[in-house]
Amino acid sequence: MQKELIIEHVTKSYGSKQALNQVTLHLKPGVLGLLGPNGAGKSTLMRILSTIEKPTEGVVTWNGTDIGKHPDVLRTELGYLPQDFGVYPNMNPLEFLEYMAAMKGLRMKSARKRIDELLEILNLANDRKKLLGGFSGGMKQRVGIAQALLNDPSLLIVDEPTVGLDPEERIRFRNLLSTMSSNRIVILSTHIVTDIESIAPNIAILFKGRLVTYTTPEGLIQGADHKVWQCIIPTAELQEMQDKYMISSAIHRSDGVHARIVSDFRPSQNALPLPSTLEDAYLYAVSPLGGAL
Ligand SMILES: Nc1ncnc2c1ncn2[C@@H]1O[C@H](COP(=O)(O)OP(=O)(O)O)[C@@H](O)[C@H]1O
Ligand SMILES: [Mg+2]
Repeated sequence: MQKELIIEHVTKSYGSKQALNQVTLHLKPGVLGLLGPNGAGKSTLMRILSTIEKPTEGVVTWNGTDIGKHPDVLRTELGYLPQDFGVYPNMNPLEFLEYMAAMKGLRMKSARKRIDELLEILNLANDRKKLLGGFSGGMKQRVGIAQALLNDPSLLIVDEPTVGLDPEERIRFRNLLSTMSSNRIVILSTHIVTDIESIAPNIAILFKGRLVTYTTPEGLIQGADHKVWQCIIPTAELQEMQDKYMISSAIHRSDGVHARIVSDFRPSQNALPLPSTLEDAYLYAVSPLGGAL
C-alpha cells in the first residue's frame, strides 16, 4: 500500500506566537523540499510530524490514522533528524548507532547488519572506531542521517541537514536522499534553494507560519516569469534600490553593479527582462510584494 501523510489545517501557537497557521499538505512517496526563511515554522511543522509536539488545531494522519491520538503507528516507521541533533562525543559511530538502535527498540542482530550497511552507504566505515567528538560537521551530520535510517523508515524527516556541510558533502548528501526516496516520503527543510533544486519534485514554501506555495520547481519558476530584471546601476544607488526592490543578486563590475531584481514592474527604463531561476522565484514567493501572498 502506498504511504500517505495528510496534514489538515494545522495551526500551532506558543502563547500569543503563532508558529503555524492553517497548514494543509497532502504527501505521497518522494522528496518534499520544505523551504522558508528562519522563523517560518519549518522546524515546528517537522516536530509535529515527528509526533514530538501536537498541533493546537488541525489533524495529521498517517495512512488514515490520526497521529495526535495514535503516535505509535507512525513512530515505528519514522526517521527524524532534528535541526539541533547532537552526538555523544565520547562514543564512536558504531557505539552510537548501536545505542540508538537499542533506544528505538530494534532487534540487535538485524540492527548490527543494518548499521554495517549504513556505515558503508554514508561513507563512515573507515571512521567507525573514531570518537565522534573529533568529527567534522559533515561527518556528524552523516551519523545523524544514519540514526534516522536505522529502522528503514517510510517517513524520513530531515531538518536543515545541509547546515555545516561543505559543497562536496552537500552534493553527496543530495544524491543519497534522492536514491532513498523511491518508496518513502522524505521531507527536507532548508532555507537554501540550491539544496532542493535538483532533488525535490515538490516544493512547499512556508512564510510566517503560512503555506505560501505547494508546487513543482517548474511551477514555482513560472510564478516568477516576467518578474525578473537586470539593471546596471552606480554603486552609490544600490542601497536605494535595495530599499525599494527585492534584489536576488548584485555583482560589482567595471560599468557598475549588475543587479538582479525581482519585481512585478520594470524597475527602471533601461531594465532588461531575464528568465527566472528557482532562487528568484523563491524570493518572489516570500517577498511582501510577491504574487503568492
Ligand atoms: N517552543 C517555542 N516557544 C515559543 N516560540 C517558538 C517555539 N518554537 C518555535 N517558536 C517560534 O515559532 C516560529 C517558527 O519557528 P521555527 O519552527 O523554529 O521556524 P524555522 O524552523 O522555519 O526557522 C519562530 O518565530 C519561533 O521563534
Ligand atoms: Mg528550523
